[in-house]
Amino acid sequence: MELISRPRRLRTTPGLRKMVRETRVDASSLVYPMFVMDGTGKTDEIKALPGQYRYTVDMVDAKIEEMLKAGVNSIMLFGIPDHKDEVGSQAYAEDGIIQRAIRYIKEKYPEMYVIADVCLCEYTSHGHCGLICECGGHHDVDNDSTLELLSKTAVSQALAGADMVAPSDMMDGRVGAIREALDANGLTNTPIMSYAVKYASSFYGPFREAAGSAPSFGDRRSYQMDYHNRREGVKEALLDVEEGADIIMVKPATAYLDVIREVYEATDVPVATYSVSGEYAMVKAAAAQGWIDEKSIMCEMAVAAFRAGASIYETYYAKELAECIREGRIG
Ligand code: PBG
Repeated sequence: MELISRPRRLRTTPGLRKMVRETRVDASSLVYPMFVMDGTGKTDEIKALPGQYRYTVDMVDAKIEEMLKAGVNSIMLFGIPDHKDEVGSQAYAEDGIIQRAIRYIKEKYPEMYVIADVCLCEYTSHGHCGLICECGGHHDVDNDSTLELLSKTAVSQALAGADMVAPSDMMDGRVGAIREALDANGLTNTPIMSYAVKYASSFYGPFREAAGSAPSFGDRRSYQMDYHNRREGVKEALLDVEEGADIIMVKPATAYLDVIREVYEATDVPVATYSVSGEYAMVKAAAAQGWIDEKSIMCEMAVAAFRAGASIYETYYAKELAECIREGRIG
């Protein structure tokens, strides 16, 4: 028989396919996002994120233990306070919800790597990521006065025991401000993972329900990025690296693989990506209808992000992915 092209010998056996894989996946790259709220004795399921919950601090144990058992050793914490105000004061309160959660988890599970989300939107009554000013007759987020509060938040989280802080607010100059504040407090070993490349995205919809953080007026387009732009993503990343970011986050993940690759090539720091709430919700919804195979889609999305250049993948599917890696389905 005459071959019309070279035979694909390297695809013929499973062992060989695995031997020549270009992308390797390990559970140590996974981060699980978790929501903690004020109160006691409660776990609320998040409607638009089936299988995901908000926990009061006394109720987190089972989930943390489940994660550690599955091989997921990193979580990102989001705090949801009962009391929200104009200046987001619970974000940097010493006994705030996130500070208490960090202290509790780090004391009881020191092996769990705890990353704290640094942002005001879960803590402000207006749901914006910074302070509001009346500039030129309309309300807008005031970049510079917000920096001090973000720095205070990051320092209070690190003092509570957070292993890493992750500013997601998108104010200009906040990485430099946070680095300076951490260093001034002796927290020189606390790394910063900057959500440098965060697009104004409708994929965050379910998260805003989970955190009660939908803006009460306007939207986030004045401080989050326009999804028509790729080079701007690289620019944001480079600026944050210069200010001292240790890791750059691209967010969302699946619809932004090109940006992950660009940032990977343009910087010399690890790239993280966050497969956000809307991505999870879409897969869950289609799977519930029997229209797609949930596990395969989840695996394919994760591997695509790693293939694009991510070293860290944050996902609501962290546990399930760790199980797929352990079973050898991916990895
Ligand atoms: C802001 C923040 C958001 C998410 C993570 N951090 C929401 C937003 O910018 O509106 C979204 C995460 C997700 O959708 O899963 N603190």
